[in-house]
Amino acid sequence: MSGAESVNQQRLWQRHADMAKLGGTPKGGVNRQALSPEDAAARNQLMAWAKVRGFEVFTDAIGNLFVRRAGSDTAAAPVVSGSHMDSQPTGGRFDGMYGVLAAFEALEALEDAGVATKRPVMAVAWTNEEGSRFQPGAMGSAVFAGHYKLDDMLQQKDWKGVLLKDALAETLQTAPAPARPGTGFALDSYVEAHIEQGPRLENERKTIGVVTAIQGSRRYIVTIDGEEAHAGTTPRAARKDAYAAATRIAAAMYEATTDADDTLRFTIGRVEVAPGSPNTVPGKVVFTIDMRHPRNDVLEAHEKTLEAIVAAKAAPCPAGIERVTNVAPTDFDPKVIGLVRDKAQALGLANMDMPSGAGHDAMHIARLCPTGMIFVPCERGISHNEIENATPQDLAAGTRVLVEVLEALANR
Ligand code: GLV
Ligand code: MN
Ligand code: MN
Repeated sequence: MSGAESVNQQRLWQRHADMAKLGGTPKGGVNRQALSPEDAAARNQLMAWAKVRGFEVFTDAIGNLFVRRAGSDTAAAPVVSGSHMDSQPTGGRFDGMYGVLAAFEALEALEDAGVATKRPVMAVAWTNEEGSRFQPGAMGSAVFAGHYKLDDMLQQKDWKGVLLKDALAETLQTAPAPARPGTGFALDSYVEAHIEQGPRLENERKTIGVVTAIQGSRRYIVTIDGEEAHAGTTPRAARKDAYAAATRIAAAMYEATTDADDTLRFTIGRVEVAPGSPNTVPGKVVFTIDMRHPRNDVLEAHEKTLEAIVAAKAAPCPAGIERVTNVAPTDFDPKVIGLVRDKAQALGLANMDMPSGAGHDAMHIARLCPTGMIFVPCERGISHNEIENATPQDLAAGTRVLVEVLEALANR
């Protein structure tokens, strides 16, 4: 049997169900935010499965978790595949987890098929891809790639003030794995499987998305300082209302980021109003901006506009805009793209080339080694939602492509 024929659809589907219990929500999704007890539980689960197969596991200094199937050339750099196990606060059971479980299934399929590879093949679960608890997102892969400094990341705080360093230490205590010092090592190549998180594959009745690129993304935090005052007594003219300033800024930003072809993505996803009392004029507002576009010059121009809007609309409140993430658009490696397309074709799977609207760990790893991605459809394109869904058949099909691609890379 080949690696692809050894992919076990039922085992892969069951593993998604098992993982979905860790942080499971009543609507069938998950709340498994980065470095939470639920994240630790998922790490323990993955390590338990790896132990059964005798695969080596280890973590690095940012908590990225690696599972390694040995190759025959002990000096060769590994072929790596994976994604993330952390979720949005109201996340689905496939975003990220599919890429980790597909990579692990690929290791098992190679094992079951008795396929030897020259290079080691590794599955990885990158730390904190979502960036909803700790900013910035895609953190583990970015630190691995040297895009962010480890020490800076360890000092990040979540919205409750918990230091990432402490949350990481607690996670690694609950889910202990042999630790390799530092972060980053030589990779031969990297391939990430993921649900599409958009509707194109489903609409066009394709099973496999051959991912060619990821659009650029930037995130910001806008902070507005007002002055707390009594809601019943303070005249409008005497107020420094931080929320009123935020609404002026936000309205101008929505307007400025509306483009004719609906390509620019602009989202205000979190707004914190303090002190959060109905009868106190807000003294402080902090809100997030997520902005994406395939072209860096467009993002650059809009960043200038956002800065100008904050400066123009905040008065009488002092306000500032801080950029917390800037990831340039990513083009994947033509050879890996070609390999994904060829393997999908050889397996008789309907496929199409497409760019990714969502960010993925692959965008950082692409700076290190030849990289590509494989998408599979998700129901109605819905993601970052508890009702996110995908079929066992499509998940297995993507994994069959993945195992063939990994084997080809590991034996070339
Ligand atoms: C990843 O979840 C992203 O925000 O693109
Ligand atoms: Mn994801
Ligand atoms: Mn996500």
